[in-house]
Amino acid sequence: MQIPLPLCTVRSWRRGDEASLVRHANNRNVWINLRDRFPHPYTSDDAARWMAWVLAERPETNFAIAVGGDAVGGVGYEIQPDVLRMSAEIGFWLGEAYWGRGIMTEAVRAVTEHALRTHQLVRLYATVFEWNPASMRVLEKAGYTQEARLRRSAVKDGRVIDQVLYAITREP
Ligand SMILES: CC(C)(COP(=O)(O)OP(=O)(O)OC[C@H]1O[C@@H](n2cnc3c(N)ncnc32)[C@H](O)[C@@H]1OP(=O)(O)O)[C@@H](O)C(=O)NCCC(=O)NCCS
Repeated sequence: MQIPLPLCTVRSWRRGDEASLVRHANNRNVWINLRDRFPHPYTSDDAARWMAWVLAERPETNFAIAVGGDAVGGVGYEIQPDVLRMSAEIGFWLGEAYWGRGIMTEAVRAVTEHALRTHQLVRLYATVFEWNPASMRVLEKAGYTQEARLRRSAVKDGRVIDQVLYAITREP
């Protein structure tokens, strides 16, 4: 999979991305905004484990964000089970060196369209930690609407926090 965009390319993960992945993922400022399953510190063993998992994933729902050929971030979605099966949760991160250039907004827009079309979904959603206005702004710019504040719904870095729920919906 490859979607060329003006500021980045959203593409399949590839062997050889590991070094760049560690360089950009091994950052507390990235980790603090993600689920704890995203490791910190982020080691080359973590990158190897991720690569083995993601290369085997079918259907492919996790992609690298590449700038100048280097994988500098990730964006993916998780199709939900049972009665939630027409929804997916989207997640994303970008290396701090690339923040503030509009890269994630275009990547989230493109992957949202890709997910809705490829899997005939009617809803994509994301839950954002209360301290992450940049992510909320990305989702808003990509067409998502704030639906709810999930009070005291997550624990991160030893703090119980609110999450803000964003979603975009489509007619089937
Ligand atoms: C959140 C993140 C994905 C943003 O990526 P990015 O490529 O820098 O985003 P963009 O440049 O497309 O847009 C960022 C927007 O947030 C705004 N923003 C940044 N910091 C902000 C702040 N502290 N308060 C309010 N808005 C802020 C920017 O001004 C911009 O909006 P604008 O275009 O209206 O000016 C990136 O910082 C990141 O990966 N963070 C760590 C992981 C993470 O938070 N993932 C999302 C989990 S839900």
